[in-house]
Amino acid sequence: MSDEVKLERRGGAAIVQIDRPARRNALDRATVNELGRIGRALAADSSVRAALLTGSGDKAFCAGADLKERAGMSEDEVRAMLRSYRSELAWLDTSPFPVIAAVNGAALGGGFELALACDLRVAAETAVFALPETSLGIIPAAGGTQRLPRLVGTSKALELILLGTRLTAAEALSLGVVNRVAPANTDVVADTLTWLEPVLSGPATAMRAALAAVRAAATTPLAEGLESELAAYEVCLESEDRKRALAAFAARKKPPAE
Ligand code: COA
Repeated sequence: MSDEVKLERRGGAAIVQIDRPARRNALDRATVNELGRIGRALAADSSVRAALLTGSGDKAFCAGADLKERAGMSEDEVRAMLRSYRSELAWLDTSPFPVIAAVNGAALGGGFELALACDLRVAAETAVFALPETSLGIIPAAGGTQRLPRLVGTSKALELILLGTRLTAAEALSLGVVNRVAPANTDVVADTLTWLEPVLSGPATAMRAALAAVRAAATTPLAEGLESELAAYEVCLESEDRKRALAAFAARKKPPAE
């Protein structure tokens, strides 16, 4: 285990926590590499039903690029860093389980983009979201210009990126940027785990198949996506979970004995 990222298992849930509170969980090279190493290992572990991505402390989920490290980088090193976001975080798009950002505080720049790369997002009531890159003379380059429009539409994404508008958790919820806001004064990781119970304890095969089919919708034309849906259903067809569910339904529907 590295100093930058902690991994904790709670049953089928894996909790991945960026642990750099003194730098507000900003992403330096070592952190990005460690997120990649941990994520790839989790993706290969069939006992994982869901992964949570969070940050330590209550100030920040992730303050984006580590600007102190960035200041000492050459242009080529910055280019390599941007590539490493793609390679090290690729597992977020391909993991067989859903990844949920439990946003415990500010998600700024690359931190917001990290949350956008997750399948679902739960925010602490105090969380804030913004992409301030254009005010710093750059643009979001950890997927933000592509994932945000897919989530909220081109016009709203442009507003957030060009104006650097800061969203509260409530505003993020109303825009569909987050799925849920944890009640005030509750731990967002604990709240997320409770919310996720149907995923953690439900039929595993169906959860994985549904995730794969819905993810395909974001990247494929409709006809191809409909084929992906059938292929994903096929995996469920032979599953014991499906047979058990049908048997249970039939048992409840049995006419009462004469
Ligand atoms: N990279 C490196 N260090 C960072 C950082 C970042 N992205 N964000 C914060 N830090 C450091 C600060 O420099 C400070 O270090 P110091 O104690 O050595 O001075 C420490 O974290 C605490 O920062 P502070 O601003 O005092 O914390 P806060 O809790 O009041 O505010 C944030 C937290 C995240 C809202 C605020 O730090 C912030 O806006 N950070 C910059 C975010 C940003 O612009 N990211 C890049 C987008 S492209």
